[in-house]
Amino acid sequence: MTSNPYFVPGPQRAEKVKSLFDAVASRYDLLNDLLSFGLHRLWKKRLARMANVGPSCRALDLCCGTGDVTFALAMEGAEVVGLDFSGKMLEAARTRTKRRKQQHRATPQGPVAYVQGDALRLPFCDATFDAVTISYGLRNLASVENGLREMLRVAKPGGRILVLDFGKPDSSLLRRCYGFILRQVVPILGKLSRGGTEAYAYIATSLDHYPAQHGVAETMKRLKLENISVINLLLGTMSIHYAKKPVTGPGHGTVQTSAQKAS
Ligand SMILES: C[S@@+](CC[C@H](N)C(=O)[O-])C[C@H]1O[C@@H](n2cnc3c(N)ncnc32)[C@H](O)[C@@H]1O
Repeated sequence: MTSNPYFVPGPQRAEKVKSLFDAVASRYDLLNDLLSFGLHRLWKKRLARMANVGPSCRALDLCCGTGDVTFALAMEGAEVVGLDFSGKMLEAARTRTKRRKQQHRATPQGPVAYVQGDALRLPFCDATFDAVTISYGLRNLASVENGLREMLRVAKPGGRILVLDFGKPDSSLLRRCYGFILRQVVPILGKLSRGGTEAYAYIATSLDHYPAQHGVAETMKRLKLENISVINLLLGTMSIHYAKKPVTGPGHGTVQTSAQKAS
């Protein structure tokens, strides 16, 4: 496991992560496009479609960053709240949402609001949202389990819980190649684009500590979520977790996995 100045386990974790995203906010979208060859846009749209929200639905997008998933959920017709604790990322999200509307490139069907707050202490009542999403955010929380618990708390019975994040491929050869890219190549790209070497080396460090496909699914199972499924994207280097909050009583807790390339 590697160390990184932005990764500090325990109570200081949030403060460090917040300082990282405040620092990279102006470069964040450019780097996302570079690192994923634009594929992150497809994965985020897919996540929003899977949330199955339409007019009269309320959706919450946690760790919304610059607002890609928040906006995609609004395009599906939902009334959406995007929440993040980084003021700079939220500033970028508000600017982008306004620009997208002004340029008439896209008109969201549902209203969009951005709120500054902590994903581990959500300022919302129990059972408020039809869908709760988190894209590239769960890995950054001090506790994956507590993050999922908060998502579950604010979801309505039958509400959808969706997580998009980096994954860990099952093949050890692939894991090693992927680890090399994250450790050696990504920090260089971060430096060249003035996003910062350490800031982008943080991806590999945070992934080392993230339970990824199997661990997140197991936690969902323990929390008694239902209809849990894991979709592997790009050979498992990324993944989407989908689950439902039980309508009544405990869930079944079975997990389905499907290996799929990015679509
Ligand atoms: C990698 S970015 C993801 C942004 C966006 N969801 C996306 O997919 O592009 C992670 C975001 O999570 C936010 N974040 C991390 N921990 C958080 C917490 N505890 N509460 C709220 N936001 C948090 C960061 O500020 C950052 O904007």
